[in-house]
Amino acid sequence: MKKALAFGGDPNFGELSISSMTKNYLEAAIEIAQEAGKILIEELSRPLDIAYKGDEVDLVTQADKRSERLIVERLTQYFPEHAIAAEEGTGRESASASEFRWHVDPLDGTTNFAHGYPCFCVSIALAQRETLLAAVVFNPFYNELFAAARGGGVTFNGKKIHVSKNATLSTSLLCTGFPVRNRKASPNLRYYGDFTQRSHGVRRDGSAALDLASVAAGRFDGFWEFGLQKWDTAAGVLLVEEAGGKVSDFAGNSYQLGGPVILATNGLIHEEMRAMALEISRRSPEPSGS
Ligand code: IPD
Ligand code: CA
Ligand code: CA
Repeated sequence: MKKALAFGGDPNFGELSISSMTKNYLEAAIEIAQEAGKILIEELSRPLDIAYKGDEVDLVTQADKRSERLIVERLTQYFPEHAIAAEEGTGRESASASEFRWHVDPLDGTTNFAHGYPCFCVSIALAQRETLLAAVVFNPFYNELFAAARGGGVTFNGKKIHVSKNATLSTSLLCTGFPVRNRKASPNLRYYGDFTQRSHGVRRDGSAALDLASVAAGRFDGFWEFGLQKWDTAAGVLLVEEAGGKVSDFAGNSYQLGGPVILATNGLIHEEMRAMALEISRRSPEPSGS
């Protein structure tokens, strides 16, 4: 990744256009995600080394840690000026005054991973202030690589992809997720029940980054979840937007990374899903902060 090395350390981008820089960032992110993916596959066949982060189902494994170590090491090497926000806390969040920040989930779907259910991925995104520039979501088990650069569309294993064309909720396949922390406080079972009855069904796959990638690829028509963190959604949000979809909160405001709820759809069913979500929350308002 010589290009990234050459350009990354220089805050003055010279004559490079933003788009060629973004391409450079994306190439680096793809290379690093694939390398981290190899670690996850290696770890999959090793005896599990699980620890718990406070709550009884908030797992962390040796795989999360090894993957994060590699990603942070590579990003630091290629882009020493950039900040890195990484889930397991080994990033360089405040080390840098840079307006560029990488959002890293070294293993999204840890619970799936720990049970050998092959729905897990590496998720890496770069934001310049509030604007997402580049995103990669990589499932190393199925070798599925989703990549996007702002303004350049989305690819799935190198081929352009788009959100689905399904225009009604009643014929949609949806997806959601449930938090691993404060499980009892989550309002989502109510939404899960109602959306299940008003659609072709709601899947719960256990990896928010892959859920969003699946909306981008048209496998799901819509996705919502409460309480996700920045590293869960940063890459997936750019994938959905660049694939022609829409991302907001339930009020229709633009989604802020780390916001209390995310709604990501093919755009066509967005208002129908939003109206229904508002109807559910009016019936029984969720506790604040959920
Ligand atoms: C989890 C997954 C899951 C979502 C949880 C997340 P992790 O991330 O994205 O789908 O429902 O809220 O915490 O812990 O496997 O990286
Ligand atoms: Ca995650
Ligand atoms: Ca994780």
